[in-house]
Amino acid sequence: MSEAVTTASESSQGNLGGREQWSSRLVFILAATGSAVGLGNIWKFPYITGENGGGAFVLVYLLCIAAIGIPIMMAEIMLGRRGRQDPVSTMKKLAQESGHSRSWGLLGWMGVIAGFLILSYYSVIAGWAMAYVPRMASGVFTGMDSAAVNNVFAELVSNPEVLITWHSLFLFMTMAVVARGVRGGLEKAVTYLMPMLFVLLLILIFYAIGTGHFEQGLQYLFTPDFSKITTEGILSAMGHAFFTLSLGMGAIMVYGSYLPPGTSIAKASIAVACMDTLVAIMAGMIIFPIVFANALEPSAGPGLIFKTLPLAFSHMDYGRFFGTLFFLLLVFAAWTSSISLIEPAITWAMKTFQITRIKAAVISGGLVWFAGLLTVFSFNLTSELTITSTISTQYGEFVILKDATAFDFLDYLTSNIMLPLGGLLIAVYAGWLMKKEYSREELNVNRFWYTIWSLLVRFVAPIMVVIVFLNAMGVVAFIRTMYGSFGF
Ligand code: TRP
Repeated sequence: MSEAVTTASESSQGNLGGREQWSSRLVFILAATGSAVGLGNIWKFPYITGENGGGAFVLVYLLCIAAIGIPIMMAEIMLGRRGRQDPVSTMKKLAQESGHSRSWGLLGWMGVIAGFLILSYYSVIAGWAMAYVPRMASGVFTGMDSAAVNNVFAELVSNPEVLITWHSLFLFMTMAVVARGVRGGLEKAVTYLMPMLFVLLLILIFYAIGTGHFEQGLQYLFTPDFSKITTEGILSAMGHAFFTLSLGMGAIMVYGSYLPPGTSIAKASIAVACMDTLVAIMAGMIIFPIVFANALEPSAGPGLIFKTLPLAFSHMDYGRFFGTLFFLLLVFAAWTSSISLIEPAITWAMKTFQITRIKAAVISGGLVWFAGLLTVFSFNLTSELTITSTISTQYGEFVILKDATAFDFLDYLTSNIMLPLGGLLIAVYAGWLMKKEYSREELNVNRFWYTIWSLLVRFVAPIMVVIVFLNAMGVVAFIRTMYGSFGF
């Protein structure tokens, strides 16, 4: 049994059938928020918003959080709590319970792989944040202009040895916690550090207001210009909704498996989603004013926050102090997320190969480390090695990937395909295949809210995911053109 993610294990509530559990709903909410709030909110959200032109993208993203994210999060927690095992065994067990095929275990398996792949690049990016801590602390950025800040970033990512060092360190930190159990240090850390991160974000918002470009930033974020949104943008917005809420791969399922019965899954899900969204929006409100004030490109890509934030700090009183603290907290946010990325793989490996938690952590850590080299090199040695994938039909050409490095490819494959697919299957399972009496019992909400949830999870979420998928594959455009040629 996993000693990690447990409460003081023989807690007053005991443990259900040997499965340990969180001591309270609050602890669960904290852990789930710790998983949700991470690089996705502060690093990824601003840069993909910038790549996709701003407001319209944000609107689609918010819609996806509300209509797809929250209902699927409820479904995933519910499946986890009912199954009380690793994602693969949980899906097998539940499928059997409701008289369906054990192949549903494949869903858990896809999640294990997705988490593994995401962690491989997540750790490299968290390594960037770590690398910025000593740089900030020693005052490297003090008085720099934006070209000089860009240079520091370019220099960092062009050096594979340095990236590998930080990647190794971050992965070691992650695996050390996973091997020993989350409860001792990390949960406490989350309790204090998340609120601190929040306060720092607020301070930075005041800085952003002072740039004189705050309004322009807000306008960029909140005024939708639909001419700027593309099909790929919509797919990214949906993929990001899954990514930022840690959905679709069993992480939240495993966390749910430690949840005591009787806790309101609905309230917990809404709380986590709201906090997560708030942090992302705050990050956007900080980054874009700085971008505009310094005539930077919103579409600068993965380096965006590493090029903008040091500028803010370098012009701020006590900027060195706040800057150091900020990147430290970002590392912590990434840390509480990364453990949830590998937790499904760990529980699965422990059960399947009958190995100890420590052994599982060492082996999977080693594998993730190697996989991470792909991302490390895509910013230097192999940055020219890219793929472009298009589907061309007589109705036009549909670009799936354009000049994608290994990192871009991994990110696309996991966020835009595996997570939504996993989420779709979770929704279909929870909404259509699981016996209603079970889901009603688990969710334990009144009839009205159950009906709403049921509609979302049975129809809205799956249909939206499928439409976005088809659209991205050009199918919708294809059909539209077909109709067009018949004169509709
Ligand atoms: N949600 C985290 C973030 O925004 C990343 C993450 C943690 C994740 N666990 C996950 C993403 C599981 C997908 C699935 O940074």
